Amino acid sequence: MVVTIPVGVIGSTPAFGAVSRGSSPRRGASRYSAGVTKPALAVVLAAGEGTRMKSSLVKVLHPIAGRPILGHVMHSVAHTEPMAMVVVVGHQRERVTEYLANYETGVLVTVQEQQLGTGHAVRTCLEQLIEQGVKTSSLDGPVLVLAGDAPLITGATLADLLDHHNASGSKVTVLSALLDDPSGYGRILRDSDHAFTGIVEHRDATDEQRTVNEVNSGTYVFDGALLREALTRITNDNSQGELYLTDVVSIARNDGAHVSAFALHDQNEILGINDRVQLAEASAIMRDRINEGWMRAGVTFADPSTTWIDVDAEIAPDVVLAPSVVILGPTAIATGAIIGPDTTLNACEVGEGASVVRSHCELAVIGANATVGPYTYLRPNARLDEGAKAGAYVEIKNSHIGAGAKVPHLSYVGDAEVGEGSNIGAATVFVNYDGVNKHRTVVGAHARVGSDTMLVAPVTIGDGAYTAAGSVITQDVPAGAIAVGRAQQHNIEGWVERKRAGSPAAQAAERARETSDSSDSPADS
Ligand code: UD1
Ligand code: CA
Repeated sequence: MVVTIPVGVIGSTPAFGAVSRGSSPRRGASRYSAGVTKPALAVVLAAGEGTRMKSSLVKVLHPIAGRPILGHVMHSVAHTEPMAMVVVVGHQRERVTEYLANYETGVLVTVQEQQLGTGHAVRTCLEQLIEQGVKTSSLDGPVLVLAGDAPLITGATLADLLDHHNASGSKVTVLSALLDDPSGYGRILRDSDHAFTGIVEHRDATDEQRTVNEVNSGTYVFDGALLREALTRITNDNSQGELYLTDVVSIARNDGAHVSAFALHDQNEILGINDRVQLAEASAIMRDRINEGWMRAGVTFADPSTTWIDVDAEIAPDVVLAPSVVILGPTAIATGAIIGPDTTLNACEVGEGASVVRSHCELAVIGANATVGPYTYLRPNARLDEGAKAGAYVEIKNSHIGAGAKVPHLSYVGDAEVGEGSNIGAATVFVNYDGVNKHRTVVGAHARVGSDTMLVAPVTIGDGAYTAAGSVITQDVPAGAIAVGRAQQHNIEGWVERKRAGSPAAQAAERARETSDSSDSPADS
């Protein structure tokens, strides 16, 4: 039991200052309000491996709606405003710690070298905190304990649980739930007066106990002093040979302390993730919650079941989302925008009234009233100003398209500046790569690049300049000039009838010649 990660190294909040997320909950993503009772400490258990995930990534780091499972738990805990939050790590502790260091603030970490049970996890956690100089007295208040693999628990439920613990004068309060299928869970035991007496694990339960469908959710509030003392008395005398946190309940009760079980209404909240089937179930529940939040905030969803939105997205009222829309990362969509169908936006900014149809966009900025799609690929640092257009089968990367400028059809625009009001003809390619280096192209304002132009960078097209269709442009074009960069056309008369005699083409040509010969006759003129 060695502390390899010093307590307090993570985040900027000093140990035992109030843990807070700083900002208020996002509209749509969560609707919590902190309760009256604030935990002295919140302990999140995340040392297990999660073998049933069959993954090289530790279970608690698998993402749901763009945030790891563990992060969801921590965000809910944060709404109870604990004085300190500690995560117990074990398997892949470096990766878990790295996540915590980068994405969560004010979080402490303790290490459980060997996973000898949930009771052992909490015991070693408290011991390490004290060894690292945390005052015992600061651990005497309510201690919230929960599993890092149950991401659907809400801040509101945790606040209710804490308030119940406080109001009932309990030393231990267990969050329970009534399940249709309780198998696998620890069962809540009650005496003939219906008083809560303890928890028995499924594997240790008698057949009669297994008929109980009130289960232990794995979330608890303990009196800190009682918890510390009781954890010295738990044994591994059970079918798994583990130190069970749940044994604290019967120890407390036998000592005459008041213990209670607080039943949850929404049984989804306790869903723990053990395998990929449960991961998908939890993802769908989270999707529904997120979507409901945005609908209540004024966003139209044509088909909520095919619309997936990450927790970090921001969507204004009167945005319309068509079916099969995926909104990833910190995407922001302004009012009146219409997105989809069949569109993915990853870390994009979409302006007011813009429309994005059947497109894939990443780290792109789409201005107000701009139109994108169908079938457009906007890559990182594609920026469309107000009213600009990126049309069908167009790919744009690291380029700025000025206000009202249009790239309507079948083009590639890379490393370019396109001035306002310019039009890029169909099938134009911004030839930005010479095989070694990338180069920039600048197109001025109100220029007209003809269809099928190759703009070989570095090259500049001046304001109001034209290029002839099919040109390969390798030299700068002055403002107002037209550049013609293609071979001169010459026609070889009669070639088809001579070289392809008898073919349908030759016959068609012959008919055309006869018609034009007769119409050319002097009688008609
Ligand atoms: C636990 C409860 C059970 C409850 C269920 C709810 C006990 C003894 N049983 O059972 O009553 O119904 O949760 O899901 O607590 N962990 C550690 N270190 C350990 C062991 C576990 O950090 O040594 C972590 C795991 O990573 C996990 C959480 O604690 O996040 C729960 O552990 P798990 O083994 O899944 O407990 P269950 O057997 O499901
Ligand atoms: Ca479990």
